[in-house]
This record gives sequence, structure tokens and C-alpha cells, in this order.
Amino acid sequence: MRICCLQTLLLSAVQLFLSCRTLVAPSIQNNFLYQDILRANGKKEIYFSDVRLQVDSSQPSVSAARGGNATLPCRFWYELKPSSSREARIKWSWLPAAGRHEEDVLVAIGSHSRSFGVFRGRVELRQNFPGDAALVMTELQLNDTGRYRCEVVDGLEDKSTIVQLELQGVAFPYQHPYGRYKMNFLGAQRACEEQDSTLATFTQLLQSWKEGLNWCNAGWLADGTVQYPITQPRVPCGGHGLAPGVRSYGRRHLNLHHYDVFCFSSSIRGKVYYLESSRKMNLTESQQACQEDGAEIAKVGQLYAAWKFAGLDRCDAGWLADGSVRYPISRPRENCGPPEPGVRSFGFPLRQHKHGVYCYKLDGK
Ligand SMILES: *[C@@H]1O[C@H](CO)[C@@H](O)[C@H](O)[C@H]1NC(C)=O
Ligand SMILES: *[C@@H]1O[C@H](CO)[C@@H](O)[C@H](O)[C@H]1NC(C)=O
Ligand SMILES: *[C@@H]1O[C@H](CO)[C@@H](O)[C@H](O)[C@H]1NC(C)=O
Repeated sequence: MRICCLQTLLLSAVQLFLSCRTLVAPSIQNNFLYQDILRANGKKEIYFSDVRLQVDSSQPSVSAARGGNATLPCRFWYELKPSSSREARIKWSWLPAAGRHEEDVLVAIGSHSRSFGVFRGRVELRQNFPGDAALVMTELQLNDTGRYRCEVVDGLEDKSTIVQLELQGVAFPYQHPYGRYKMNFLGAQRACEEQDSTLATFTQLLQSWKEGLNWCNAGWLADGTVQYPITQPRVPCGGHGLAPGVRSYGRRHLNLHHYDVFCFSSSIRGKVYYLESSRKMNLTESQQACQEDGAEIAKVGQLYAAWKFAGLDRCDAGWLADGSVRYPISRPRENCGPPEPGVRSFGFPLRQHKHGVYCYKLDGK
């Protein structure tokens, strides 16, 4: 269209008008609504008749369990009934915790759809009724949380809505076996994965803070910030003058700066249990004892999940896979640590020390 007008600049005003008019119409033939109008009134008038595409979701936030399914609702409709049947393009994208880029989840036109990346084979459109664009997700993974955008495009109209996906879970602080503040961002990410968990998001840490998490060491979050949750202000944690809350150091250098980490674990298939045994064992003996029981030595994320979701309560310290010794208390009592429920830690004792052990076994074994 611009070329057309440039070419005709030297022509008279009338010629300019006519030539642009005749060339403009075919250049927008990708939008058939306009063609309908062109045909309807023979005067070749072009105007924007807005059929007003609308998109919304009946649920701004969906909560689900790891390994389960979730349906993220989304529907679209037209405020003015379109004169011909229309085929909208639907696109779902994932906006993970800040600092990571957006990813395509699924694109659909009519009954054809395609899923991408880590979502391939795990997502589909529901399409239960006209305009239903709900996303059905299966085999949910810990790191699927975040915001999902449902975008509907029809010709020049483009509308979208956001649905938040949260997993039911628990955020917990994790320190490297070598001590305090030993992990950069990548190390933190790896440490969480090794404990059957993932880097916590701010929302997940905030939830654990609301549930009483009070922790004075700063840790990485999924968005590359470093924060710590304080429910009881005290001198070594910023002093009494500061209000309770989740305190932030802001974004830190992902490679150069070292902190602890907040990991996130969700409900697990299978169970975590304290191995009943007449003797205490060192770390290698503990690993073997779990194997002999048809299980594996439990990971920290699994112990937290069992404490949070299965109410695991045991006042005996036990080895875990990372070489730490911990025990889960749901019903606080005398001689079992502080008055709040929680997973107590003895840190990382020497591996020849003798303790009990927590094992993890998949169902049906
Ligand atoms: C999830 O959906 C799949 C198929 O749609 C079904 O086979 C499976 O049982 C569902 N899982 C849960 C936990 O509901
Ligand atoms: C999410 O977790 C799964 C399995 O734990 C892993 O294979 C995948 O790469 C992770 N995805 C991202 C984006 O980190
Ligand atoms: C644990 O004890 C066994 C002997 O029962 C020994 O062979 C092994 O080296 C010990 N492991 C550690 C980490 O001390």
C-alpha cells in the first residue's frame, strides 16, 4: 500500500484516490469479514466493523497436584454474531517465573493442534462446546507452575487472558553440605533437583511464610532473586525494628553470588517411612538397609512432602540421601524440637556416625 501511494505521488489527486482504492482491497483479503462487507455494499467502502471478539477465563487461578491433571479454563465468543462461520487461532503460552522467557505450549486451528517442548504429548484443548479453549494438562511436573496465557486471534482481532497454575506443595530452605552460602544460581537449581524438588517461586515461599516458615538465611528463588522469610523479627535477622515479612536482597548475580536456596516439593507417589531397625547405622549401611527393604534412602524433598501431605511424624533422627540427618514433626511435643511443626535438621554429620534412616518406596512395590 505504501509503494502504491509512493508510485502515485506524482499523479493527480483523483488518480491517487482511485489507484489506492483499487489496490487496497485485495491486500487485506486475509480477513474475510471485510470481504463480506465489500461484497455486501457494492460501493467498495472499507470500514472497521468490529465483531468484538471476547476471551475470558472462569478461574484466574488453578491449583493441582504433582503427577495429576489440571484444566485451565478459557473461552471466547463474539459480541456481534459474525455473518459467516469463523475459524479462530488459539495459542497457549507459558510465562514461567520471571527471568525466564515465554514458551509456546499449544497452537490450535479448528480441530488441528500442536504442542511444543516439555508440553508435547501432555496438553490438549478441551473443546467441549463452541468457544471452549480450555487447556487440559496431564502428568503435571513440579516446574509447570506459572502463568499461562490463552490467546485467541481472529483476523485483526487478538484477545487474551491469563490463568495461573499453582501446585499444592511446600517450600523449604536448603543449605549445601559444605555450609552456609555456598551455591550460585545453577548450583542451587541442581541442589533442589537432587532432592526431588525444584527452585521455589516467590508465591510458593510466601505461602510457606504464611504457614510459619521463619528462616534467617537468604536463599535463591526461581526468578533469580534472593530472599528470606521472617515471622519473628530478631536481632541477627535484621533486628526487631523490621516488620515480619519476606525480605528481599533483590536480583543477584547468577554466577558470582552464593547463597542458600529455597526448594519446592509437592505431594509424591509412594511413601516415606522410618526404617524400623534394632540398630543405628552409618550412611552407607543406611543406604543398603533401604535397598534391602525394596526402597531407596529418602531425599529431602520427599521427606518434606511426606511431612506436609501425609502428616509424617517421627521423633527419631534419620539419614537422608544427601548425607543430612533430619526428622519430621507434625504434632510438636516435649523433647522433639521447637513448639512449631516442621522438619528438624541436624545438618550433615560425619558419615560414619550412627543414626536411623528414612526410606522412600513407590506404591505397589
Ligand atoms: C489424567 O488424565 C488421564 C487421561 O486424560 C487419565 O488417564 C488419568 O487417570 C488422569 N489422572 C488423574 C490423576 O486424574
Ligand atoms: C522440569 O522438570 C522435568 C523433570 O523433573 C525436567 O525434565 C524438565 O527439563 C524441567 N523443565 C524445565 C523448564 O526446567
Ligand atoms: C559403615 O560401616 C561399614 C561397616 O559396617 C564400613 O564398611 C563402612 O565403610 C562404613 N561407612 C562409613 C561411611 O563410615
